[in-house]
Amino acid sequence: LSVSVIIPAAGKGERFGNKKQFLHYKNKSVLMYAISPFVFCDEINEVIIAVSKDDKNQVNDYLKVENFKKKVSIVEGGLLRQDSVKNAIKCSNKKNQIICIHDCVRPFISKYLIQKAIKKCISSDAVIVAVPSTDTLKETKDLKIKKTIDRDKIWKAQTPQVFKRSIIENVLFDLKYEKFFYTDESSLVEQAGYDVSIVEGSPLNIKITTKDDWLLAKAIFKEIYID
Ligand code: C5P
Repeated sequence: LSVSVIIPAAGKGERFGNKKQFLHYKNKSVLMYAISPFVFCDEINEVIIAVSKDDKNQVNDYLKVENFKKKVSIVEGGLLRQDSVKNAIKCSNKKNQIICIHDCVRPFISKYLIQKAIKKCISSDAVIVAVPSTDTLKETKDLKIKKTIDRDKIWKAQTPQVFKRSIIENVLFDLKYEKFFYTDESSLVEQAGYDVSIVEGSPLNIKITTKDDWLLAKAIFKEIYID
């Protein structure tokens, strides 16, 4: 089994104010925390990070410090996340039959979960890591509740998301879907009619999006992840 992992990291951090993937905890960037568990997975033989042109040198410097045994390649990202992912897939080794995509702003992913998702993808079109919702969700309009959604059916999508190469390529490069905007690749694959399975992830596999997320991330680093 051979897998390429793609880490889109070319976001500009417009909502947060600066690039979350380059925030540091104990001299190490969120991006390096996010890629490390993939580098240490035997199933993964190619790691590709999509970064914006301006950040290439900086990311190269981070990689030099880490001095990973496995080669980590850098490709140029695009305007949208989906463009960054497409550029990376184009540059990936076609011999690898499985493509794994992971957000660069999820530094708490474990090797165990990565392997669990990859394994499940052998018998599925696609697999995402997700967690059951513990909150009751409300559909709203103008701050008024329209509907309460049955919590038992709701899962929150995380990454990694793992795909058979032929399927993700068919969908991502299909002109029919070119104008689609999506926040994760599995939405598109699902839209195209493929089966997307779930493996249960961890509530600690948070995505650093807001300042509050960064506070929480620092607490996770301090209490659980490192110390
Ligand atoms: O903006 P959002 O938080 O949804 O970004 C999700 C991921 O996509 C991040 O890892 C971000 O760096 C990446 N991204 C990218 N290229 C873009 C925009 C976002 O690689 N043009």
